[in-house]
Order: sequence, then C-alpha cells, then structure tokens
Amino acid sequence: MPQTNQPHTWKFFFVFFVIWLILPDSEYQSQSVALSDLILSRLSDYRVALDVLNSTRWGDFAPLEANRTENSDAGSPKYINLTGFRDEDHFSWQHLNKFRERGLKLSHHAVSAVDGNELWDVAEGEPIWANASGVLGGQWVRRPEFSPRTPDSYNLSQSVPSMHWYADKWDWARNLTGTSGRIHLRLEGNKTVTGYEQLSKTDAPLGGGLIRNMKGVLTMEDEGSSFETRLWGVHWPRQGVIMMTTTSEKFDGIFGLPHLTLGPDYFQSSQRLLNQSLAHTIATKKKNIYTDQNIPWNADVENPLHTPSPAPNCEYIIYAQIHPPSRQSLGLGDTISKGENVADIIQSIESELEHPLGAPIQRIPDLHMSSVIYSPDCSFMLETKGPPDFPPSEADHLVGVKSEIQVTRINKWLITYAAVIFIQVMLLKDQMRETYTPSTLGRVSFWTISVMGIVDCMTFCAAATWVSEAQSTFLPTLTLMFTSLMSMMIGGSLLARIHEIQAPQPRARREGTAGSNSGQASSTASAPLTPNATGTGPILPGPVTAGRGPDPTAAAAAAAAAATNVADGAAAVPGAATATRPLPPPSPPQTFQSIIGRYLLLVLFISFVGISSLTWYATARSWFINICVFVYLSMWVPQIYRNVIRNCRRALKWKFVVGQSILRLAPLAYFWLDADNFLFARTEPHSFLVLCLWVWLQIFVLATQDIVGPRFCVPKDWTPDAWDYHPVLREDNVEAGALPIGLNPEDSPGHDHRRSSEERDKLRPGGGITRTIDCAICRELLEVPIVKAGEEDMSVTGVFARRMYMVTPCRHIFHTDCLENWMKFRLQCPICREDLPPL
Ligand SMILES: *[C@@H]1O[C@H](CO)[C@@H](O)[C@H](O)[C@H]1NC(C)=O
Ligand SMILES: *[C@@H]1O[C@H](CO)[C@@H](O)[C@H](O)[C@H]1NC(C)=O
Ligand SMILES: *[C@@H]1O[C@H](CO)[C@@H](O)[C@H](O)[C@H]1NC(C)=O
Ligand SMILES: *[C@@H]1O[C@H](CO)[C@@H](O)[C@H](O)[C@H]1NC(C)=O
Ligand SMILES: *[C@@H]1O[C@H](CO)[C@@H](O)[C@H](O)[C@H]1NC(C)=O
Ligand SMILES: *[C@@H]1O[C@H](CO)[C@@H](O)[C@H](O)[C@H]1NC(C)=O
Ligand SMILES: *[C@@H]1O[C@H](CO)[C@@H](O)[C@H](O)[C@H]1NC(C)=O
Ligand SMILES: *[C@@H]1O[C@H](CO)[C@@H](O)[C@H](O)[C@H]1NC(C)=O
Ligand SMILES: [Zn+2]
Ligand SMILES: [Zn+2]
Repeated sequence: MPQTNQPHTWKFFFVFFVIWLILPDSEYQSQSVALSDLILSRLSDYRVALDVLNSTRWGDFAPLEANRTENSDAGSPKYINLTGFRDEDHFSWQHLNKFRERGLKLSHHAVSAVDGNELWDVAEGEPIWANASGVLGGQWVRRPEFSPRTPDSYNLSQSVPSMHWYADKWDWARNLTGTSGRIHLRLEGNKTVTGYEQLSKTDAPLGGGLIRNMKGVLTMEDEGSSFETRLWGVHWPRQGVIMMTTTSEKFDGIFGLPHLTLGPDYFQSSQRLLNQSLAHTIATKKKNIYTDQNIPWNADVENPLHTPSPAPNCEYIIYAQIHPPSRQSLGLGDTISKGENVADIIQSIESELEHPLGAPIQRIPDLHMSSVIYSPDCSFMLETKGPPDFPPSEADHLVGVKSEIQVTRINKWLITYAAVIFIQVMLLKDQMRETYTPSTLGRVSFWTISVMGIVDCMTFCAAATWVSEAQSTFLPTLTLMFTSLMSMMIGGSLLARIHEIQAPQPRARREGTAGSNSGQASSTASAPLTPNATGTGPILPGPVTAGRGPDPTAAAAAAAAAATNVADGAAAVPGAATATRPLPPPSPPQTFQSIIGRYLLLVLFISFVGISSLTWYATARSWFINICVFVYLSMWVPQIYRNVIRNCRRALKWKFVVGQSILRLAPLAYFWLDADNFLFARTEPHSFLVLCLWVWLQIFVLATQDIVGPRFCVPKDWTPDAWDYHPVLREDNVEAGALPIGLNPEDSPGHDHRRSSEERDKLRPGGGITRTIDCAICRELLEVPIVKAGEEDMSVTGVFARRMYMVTPCRHIFHTDCLENWMKFRLQCPICREDLPPL
C-alpha cells in the first residue's frame, strides 16, 4: 500500500533535513589526494608571486597607455611576471592611468582643498573615519569611453596552462552589460593598524603613515543581472583610501595591487604590508592543507574551494575614498570655533561605538564614500553616481552606516520580530482557549493555520542557520529562534488537533450521523454521503474534506461499484477489487506526520528557490518575493472558503484575525517602506499598499460572513447543502411544517404559555410580526420575528434580527448565544437529543 511508504519517505527527508541543519557547511568535504596536490601547486604559485611582489619596485609595472603607441618616445612599456600583469595576458591595462586619475579626482573632490592647496595629497586633509567597516549602498554609472572585450580576446589555456578552463569561450560571469545600476558594498577592516615611514612630500600623493588589511563584498546589479564578489586589499585610514581587488586563477590581483596604487608612497606601504600578511596567509594555508581547502583571497562567494577546472569571471579593481563627515552631521556650526577638534570628535564617536561606555554622542554621521571600479580584463570602468558629475540631489555616491550601527539596527529588527512572534503566540493561545472542542476545531481552516506555521518554520530555520555565525547578533537571533520555535510548536499542536478532528471520519460514524439527521435512513444507509447524493432534507455537509484529498469521491466510486457490482466498474476503480466486501474501508487519511513532512519539504524548496533568487534579475526577484508574500498574506482565503462550505459564520476570534493580520504585515513593512532598511532592499510602497488592501479585503469578507451570513453572494449550487440555522421564518411556511415547534398558532403552545396566538403576535416596525417563546437553555424570553404570508423580508434589520435566534433541524428554536455555547460542547439538540449539524 502506498500509505505505508509515506512515513518512510518522510523519515528519510526528515533525517536529510536534520543533517542539513546540523552540519556546518564547509567542514564535511570529501578529501581527495588530487585536490591537495592541486592546492600545493597553487600555494607554491602564490609563493612565487609573492617573491615577485617582494622583488619589484615602483615603476616596474608601466603598461602601454591608451594614447601612446609602442614606438613613441615616452619609454617602452613595462610589465611584471604576475598572472594577468604580463604582456602576453593582453589585459586592457592601457586604462590604468585613467583609473588612477578618476580615483584621484574623487579624492580631491571628497576632501576639499584649502586655499588651492590639495592638503589631501600630503596627508593633511580633513580628519576621516579611521575604521571603514560598514555597509554602503548607492548607484553606479558606466564610463562611456571604453570598448568592452569579448572572451575571444583571451587565450586562457595559453596564459594559464595549468588549469582546465571551463566555458572560457562563453560570456564570462560577473560581466556587467548595463549602463547603470545599483551597487552595495560591505567592508570589513582588520583591527590592527600598522604604521610606516612616509616618503617625503615631493613623492605626493602620500598615504598618511597608517595602513591596514581590508576585505569587502561587492554586489553589483544592473537591469539584467546581479552578482556578488569578494575583494581583498588595503586601507589607508588617515587618507580614507581603500584599494581592493579580486584574485583568481587568471589574475594575481592581490599580489599586483601595490603596482595599481596612486604613487610610490602608497606602493611601498602596501607592498610591505602585503608582503607580510600574504606570506602569513600562505604559510597558514600550507600548514592546514588537509583541513582548510578554501582558496585564499577567494573572489567567488559561492565556491570557496579550489578547483582544477575554474570558469572565468571578470576581474575587478576598486578604489574608494571615504568622505570626511560633514560638520553639520557632527552637530557643529558652519564657522570653525576655537578649541574644537573635529578629529577628537570623530575619534570619540568611533571609540564609543567600539566600546560603548555611555559617552554622550548626539548623532552618528553616515558613512559616505565614492569609488571607481575598473575591470582590466573585461575592460570597462564604473563609477559611483554622485557629485561632481551628477547633482547631489540625484545621487550621492555610496551612503551607509558603520558596522556597529548596522549591527544595532539588525538587532533591533530581530528583537522586534521576536516580540511580534511572541504576541502571535499569545494570540494563538488565546484562540486555542476558545477553540478546543471538536465543534469549534471543526470550523477552523487547516490551511490558514498551516500557512502561518510554515512561515514560522521558515523563520525558525533561517534563525537556526544564522545563529551559528551570528556573532554580535547572537542573542537577538537566539531569541527569535526560540519565539519562532514556540510559535511553530503551538501552531503545530493546534494543527494536529484540527487534523484529528477534520480528518475524514470512518464511514460508519458518518453514516450514522447522516442517517439520523436527514430522516431518510433507508436511502442513505447504502448510498455514500456526498454532496450530490444529498436528498431534500437538511444534511450534514461532507465533513471537512473540502480541498483535502480525494477520499470521499474515491470512497463514493468504490461504494458505487460495490452497490451495482458491475464488472467494468471493478476494472475502472482500483479500490473495487474489494467489491465483495460490503463496506470497503476508505483509504486511511494522510497522517499528520506526513503532512508535516511535506511542509518541511516545502520550506526547504522555498528556501532554496529564495536563495537562488539572489542571483536573478532585480525585477524577477522582486516579482518572486512579492508573489510569495502575496500567497502568504492570502492566509484568510482558506478560512473564508471553509466558512462557505461549512456554512459557519465565524471560526476565529476577531482579536486573532485582526491581530495576526497586523503582526504579519508589520515585519514586512520595514523592508517595503523604510528606505533606510539594513538590507538595502529597494522599497516598494505600492506593492505594500496592494498587500495591505488584499489583507483588508479578506478581513472585510470575513466580517461580512459573520454579519450577513457565510454564503453571502455565493451561488447556491456552488456549495454543498448545509443547514441554515438562521432561516427566514415565514407564516406561510406553516403548511410545510417549517416554523419551529412552539411558534405555530396550530401547535399546542408550551405548557406554561396559554396565551392566544393573537396575544403573542406583536406588530414589528418592519411590517412583520414578532412572537415570543421561552429559550429552553436559558429560560429567558426569545423574540422571533416572523414574516407574514405573502410578504418579503429584505431589510437590513431583518438580517440582524435573524442573527438573534437559531433553529435546529428538529425544529427547536434557541437564542443564538445559548445554542452556540451549547454546541461548543455537544452537537445534540438540548431538547430532543437529535444530532445537530456542526456550525
Ligand atoms: C625579499 O626581497 C629581499 C630583497 O629585496 C630579499 O632579501 C628577501 O629575502 C626577499 N624575501 C622573500 C621572502 O623572498
Ligand atoms: C596621453 O598620455 C600623456 C602621457 O604620456 C598624458 O600626459 C596625457 O594626458 C594623455 N592624454 C590623454 C587624453 O589621456
Ligand atoms: C615568470 O615566472 C615563471 C614562473 O612563474 C617563470 O617560469 C618565467 O620564466 C618567468 N618569466 C620571466 C620573464 O621572468
Ligand atoms: C561582456 O558583455 C558584453 C556585452 O554583452 C559582451 O560583448 C562581452 O563579450 C562580454 N565580455 C566577456 C568577457 O564575456
Ligand atoms: C591558445 O593557446 C593554445 C596553447 O598555446 C593554442 O594551442 C591554441 O591554438 C590557442 N588558441 C587560440 C584560439 O589562439
Ligand atoms: C590583521 O593584521 C595583522 C597584522 O597585519 C595580521 O597578523 C592578522 O592576521 C590580520 N587579521 C586578519 C583577520 O586578517
Ligand atoms: C578602529 O580604529 C582604531 C584606530 O585606528 C583601532 O584602534 C581599532 O581597533 C579599530 N577598530 C576596528 C573594529 O577596526
Ligand atoms: C618581505 O618579507 C620578508 C620576510 O618575510 C622580508 O625579508 C623582506 O624584506 C620583505 N620585503 C619587503 C619589500 O618588505
Ligand atoms: Zn437562551
Ligand atoms: Zn430538537
């Protein structure tokens, strides 16, 4: 039987899932001798490159310039023996001087000259943030005067013969084709700053005497594509200059970086630093060759391992200039007053951020940078968009925050999200206090609660994955993990109970209910209970199988085959092999575990697609995310549907519905509305408005169902018959016997009601009459409006008046509140103990 297999598949996937959760990503790697050989040879290549770096001097790398031909008099071009920096590699180095020029221009623009003296050049410009670690975002534009290279411009098997190049004649990865787009830069500096001896002022520009290692992750996006790459380099804190480069099999970027700097002082300082730190890295990698097989200075974020057959990418060199914080943003006036020291202010802010001691800081200025990005092999140059080429109102280079502030922001959001989930848990518990009887559980849509549970599960998985590397966001992530776990567990327990109640019932019980209800026991005893088989009488709607599994129809088909005993029926219906048995047991319902297993798979699937969506086109990703969120926020639709099918006015507390809607919109609002959000996600206020309207519409429909009736505006034949507990009571229905017992003038009135029918009839303002009767539950008077023969009752007051009473199929009438409370506990008429159709 297929059903017995399901738990096994589910277990298999669960084990897989647990392994996936538990294993840290890079520690379980297959160990191969070939790979360590490859690594050894790569490391010795690095060693040789390091020797080249050690032995070269400023000026050894002077490639052919764009406006100079080889036989001009300005000296022959010089190259160095590093992969990518050699003449035979044919990189488009002729734009290197242009790159330096643009970088210098940005620096001079950022740090303004005093009296025509470029103080920046001699490292005496305005004070600048000493630590550049942070995240920044902005826009880039392509510089027009370049002609891009194609893969055919290079013969990689010639320049790097030791590698088996893969797909090197197709378009390379990380190739930007658009003319503008978005850029996002994440920088992380080494804590240790190294001092060095500056050259004399004649060798300007100077580096400022301090230097540190720096790494960064650059995300570039244009209309068509987006990619992420890792860069390594150095940072001169006094000058605010950052230079970083990608490094790969075909480009020894980090070893040649000093030759790409602005001048001899930058060269000698970075050469000395890199000489040490690269040697240290190589030595460490060599020592841990069997445990650490990641490429050092790896450019590819996704594939950190050494590979013998790499695919080529475009290489990048980035020059960035940190802008000095403006006087306004530091809370200073325009005029320079005596005794104030901007450098001290900046320094106190930085030390306070690093080691918070509670020192008073008014405002922490943004981190602000401008940058030039040059690709020496794909041959293009990009610049961040901003002054002086563009007005500051249009774009202002890269703006972001220092990493400490970023961490604070993330922590705030995580804590808020955890609090939101905690309130969700409270709402859920509050709802469960009301929803715990079979009758009330039967009303709640399994899917509505499932959607919430799935999203909580995704939150939990994300938090659990992140928590291992969360570092400074560890505690908030842990909090989020536990609240979402709590929400998942409590939601899951509610789901389990709903499933238990709503799972297709054994046939015998169903038939018993149906038979006693409809009073046509003889006909329904053999006919299966399906919507189209219902007779004239009020009948129990198919118990909650709506939308869940094919069981009722399959059972019906099997039963039909059994009843008619037709031979080809047995061939057509697989279950009909059991036709000799009078009542084939319906296929066992899906177990709750198998459903949860499917949900976990769904969570995995959505996560994988979501992660891969990071590399999609920006618009495609935005559509994908918006559609996912739209589906998520459609969570009340299954409840509306269930209300219609079950003819139930209200299944969930209003507090729950409204609260959950708001709480599930709130964390999204941050990313959709706040332009300053920590993910630098593009805000989409219009989409968010649509989402809000959609949620509001669902709540509105739920409210309408509660007030007007669940089948409001739904054509009659679309829904299975269900007992209407709030019928219009008409005097002329007397013949049909539909007026509840005790309200008919012909009925012998109740024992203690000896009034005549005229006496009981009171004229209603709406035109009908009102009769009174005692409610058997609370023994209070119940006023029942009755429409006179031949009249119509369409008034709104009529709708509300009908809400006051409930009529059972056995023609007993009660207060709505009384019977609803009663039905929470038992589905039997309080007077005659007939079964009642559930609400
Ligand atoms: C670096 O070069 C110097 C000479 O400039 C040499 O003495 C030294 O041994 C070299 N170091 C390495 C690690 O090659
Ligand atoms: C051409 O090269 C010379 C140096 O060789 C330089 O001074 C000049 O600015 C360059 N011109 C252009 C347009 O790049
Ligand atoms: C460049 O370095 C390689 C080793 O990496 C060496 O075989 C080759 O001879 C060198 N070329 C020159 C011109 O020094
Ligand atoms: C980069 O993209 C441009 C435009 O599509 C294309 O012409 C060029 O060949 C690509 N370059 C590489 C190295 O793939
Ligand atoms: C690339 O270089 C290899 C080895 O030098 C040579 O065999 C091959 O023909 C070259 N390919 C092209 C397209 O020039
Ligand atoms: C930071 O720099 C110091 C000195 O240059 C070096 O020893 C250390 O390994 C670097 N740390 C990192 C994480 O790169
Ligand atoms: C920030 O800079 C100061 C001085 O340059 C240094 O002492 C400190 O370690 C740096 N902190 C970080 C996180 O880089
Ligand atoms: C590079 O480092 C080595 C020691 O690892 C040292 O002997 C050499 O002088 C350094 N070279 C430069 C240019 O700093
Ligand atoms: Zn009552
Ligand atoms: Zn009854």
